Amino acid sequence: MLYGVVLAGGTGTRLWPLSRAGHPKFLHPLTGTEASLLQATVARLDSLASPDRVFVVTGVAHAAAVSRQLSAMPEENVLVEPSPRDSCAAIALAAAVIARRDPEAIMGSFASDHLIADTEAFSDVIRSAMAGAREGLLMTLGITPTRPETGYGYLQCGGRVGDGPLLKVEEFKEKPTYDVAEGYVKSGNYLWNAGMFVWRVESFLAELHRQQPQLAAGISRIAQAWGTAEQEEVMGDVWPTLPKISVDYAVMEGAAAAGRVGTVPGDFGWNDVGDFHTLGEVLTADQAGNVVVGHDLAERHTVLLRETESLVVVPSSGRLVAAMGVRDLVIVDTPDAVLVCPRERAQEVKQLVDQLKELG
Ligand code: GDD
Ligand code: MG
Repeated sequence: MLYGVVLAGGTGTRLWPLSRAGHPKFLHPLTGTEASLLQATVARLDSLASPDRVFVVTGVAHAAAVSRQLSAMPEENVLVEPSPRDSCAAIALAAAVIARRDPEAIMGSFASDHLIADTEAFSDVIRSAMAGAREGLLMTLGITPTRPETGYGYLQCGGRVGDGPLLKVEEFKEKPTYDVAEGYVKSGNYLWNAGMFVWRVESFLAELHRQQPQLAAGISRIAQAWGTAEQEEVMGDVWPTLPKISVDYAVMEGAAAAGRVGTVPGDFGWNDVGDFHTLGEVLTADQAGNVVVGHDLAERHTVLLRETESLVVVPSSGRLVAAMGVRDLVIVDTPDAVLVCPRERAQEVKQLVDQLKELG
């Protein structure tokens, strides 16, 4: 049986103004059903991990909303970070807490903000990854790349491990430049890292110790105090001192160089819904290619489209959104901000948010 760890951090700035610091992407129902991305992620683990073995790591600002959305989850399985220290610290905390309970445990780490269309295929891939984890490998899930995306990690595939679908990873390159990514995609020998990992907690903590001794030492102090009267004090002292770095840079690149990473190529309808354009691509469109995002059908009649094509419309203020004679646009209406931009520039919303921050 697997231990499931769901990372609910990050704000999803490219989905501004829908996704906000106070109400980030993973709390929103962008799935085409009523479930939020977080709820869908936890539900997907149903056949892999019993409910007492599923953990969520989230920031103090979102802990209450997370618990509200996951009412069946034991309270102690919501691991709360006083401040965001990026994914390595979040994963390491969960690994250390799980290792105390079960040193032999195999854990899977899952992003809370991805869409996965085929749960069954996903579960099969995780089961295959668990076989690699038993061999001591840090397992990734590999997705066939379709474009030179620079926001992802790339896995250079090596030889087979055993006679199943597992491959060795020769190199793990996080967020390459466009030219490098283009070369990778053309070579046909690279996969995207899906940002989900499966490993024995022991293997991960050993690699953490080897590559990030300061982070490992801090996490081990926290783990010793976990569940005791000192927990809060130690967490308050140590957590802010942990290096702020993602697991990809902190552990995966170096582990691959040391020959300790494997991958299972998977095709389960994965999408990391990073921006409104990609969101529009995965949700069902009308005949003219327009997509209206929002689970609440009652909200849909607050959108009036006439001779429009390939719009992504997010009506989330309750106001009427009307558009006429335009195409390939993103239109997002929220109570206090409206965004309009070409679909092809949806990635640049991040820069817009940076500019907003500068303005204060
Ligand atoms: N709890 C917690 N605390 N979670 C965090 C924190 C944090 O401080 N920072 C990031 N996370 C979570 C995010 O919520 C997300 O679920 C996951 O960690 C990955 O972080 P992102 O910031 O979304 O990373 P990324 O998208 O740039 O890159 C990762 O995912 C790509 C696929 O979507 C990498 O693993 C890439 O290699 C990968 O291709
Ligand atoms: Mg991401």
